[in-house]
Amino acid sequence: MSSHISNPTETSPQPIDDSSSSSNTLINVGLGERSYDILIGSGLLEQAGTKISALRPKAKCSIVTDETVASFHLESLEASLHSAGIDYKTVILPAGEATKSIDKLSFLLDELLSHEIERGDLVIAFGGGVIGDLAGFAASVLRRGVDFVQIPTSLLAQVDSSVGGKTGINSSYGKNLIGAFHQPLLVLCDLDVLKTLDPRQFKAGYAEVVKYGLIKDAQFFQWLSDNRERVYNLETDALVHAIQTSCSMKAHVVSADEKEHGVRALLNLGHTFGHGFEALCGYGDRLLHGEAIAIGMVLAFQFSEQLGLCEKGLSQQVEAHFIAAGLPTRIQDIPNYQEFTVDALVDKMRQDKKVERGTLVFILANAIGDALVYRKVTEDQLREFLNLQLSGHL
Ligand code: GLY
Repeated sequence: MSSHISNPTETSPQPIDDSSSSSNTLINVGLGERSYDILIGSGLLEQAGTKISALRPKAKCSIVTDETVASFHLESLEASLHSAGIDYKTVILPAGEATKSIDKLSFLLDELLSHEIERGDLVIAFGGGVIGDLAGFAASVLRRGVDFVQIPTSLLAQVDSSVGGKTGINSSYGKNLIGAFHQPLLVLCDLDVLKTLDPRQFKAGYAEVVKYGLIKDAQFFQWLSDNRERVYNLETDALVHAIQTSCSMKAHVVSADEKEHGVRALLNLGHTFGHGFEALCGYGDRLLHGEAIAIGMVLAFQFSEQLGLCEKGLSQQVEAHFIAAGLPTRIQDIPNYQEFTVDALVDKMRQDKKVERGTLVFILANAIGDALVYRKVTEDQLREFLNLQLSGHL
């Protein structure tokens, strides 16, 4: 399958014109009978009950969330389900990447079974990427699969992880190594919840927004360079443009290649390096996923320059954007990076899901807005590059 992303015409955002949601934008993820909508707008938490009961009348729901999201927004969601007459229960888990574990999965499955969630019922993943991935995976295996709705509350989850059906948990061997493709029934991206998002988490999510510009859309990268502060200030038009452009591209890619046999791999720009750093950092606050991939994307451009795939100087442009956005860009920005060795990094990178019969597969770039899947990196080239990085010579 080709790795080219064509223009996302069939998934272009549509403004919805009905009285309850006149300011919402709709993007459809086209997957035949598993197609679903992403709604982007303000006040969607308050509308969640009516939208969910219209989708699956009389379904019982289990809301899965974390302590932080619960403290800010659970009351609104529960009130919305309650007024729509939905029978629901709630499971609240600890916040943070460590929750994407086999122990928490087992705990959650028991909770869902104790709620008597059946095949026709729904799991509602109400949180950031961690909750979406864990709750989605639990839904995929519960009674051999129940449906779920994503209500992403972080920028990262709204622009990336809630769309496309990748669900799973981490292993001591690496990130997201246990999981399943399980598409949601609906994604509700409420802009209002971003107002309570921790600034560090917002910035980490922004790295995934920039990723779309770097992969395929140089104009979008330029737009972000001109409008980043407006996005950071949560100015509605800028925020909607950033989220809908990201979701449109994601929807288009997922429709073309749901199970990542081709073009979807491009969405992993910066992730082979990034997942290696995250694995070495232990999936905690030391390094957030978005921070890891910001560094990973700068490295991917530097590596592309070194391999002669793109012109010199592009990595500096990418790095300058991330620095202005308050994101880390170098291995040296990771706390206690001195512990890292080339051997340990290569070892973690070898667990990447893109490894094909032992060959590391990298997402690299010919230009800003023109990423490619590259299978010709030798281990010597990688080791030399990482040595230069760790010694601060690049
Ligand atoms: N986050 C990459 C993907 O969903 O394919």
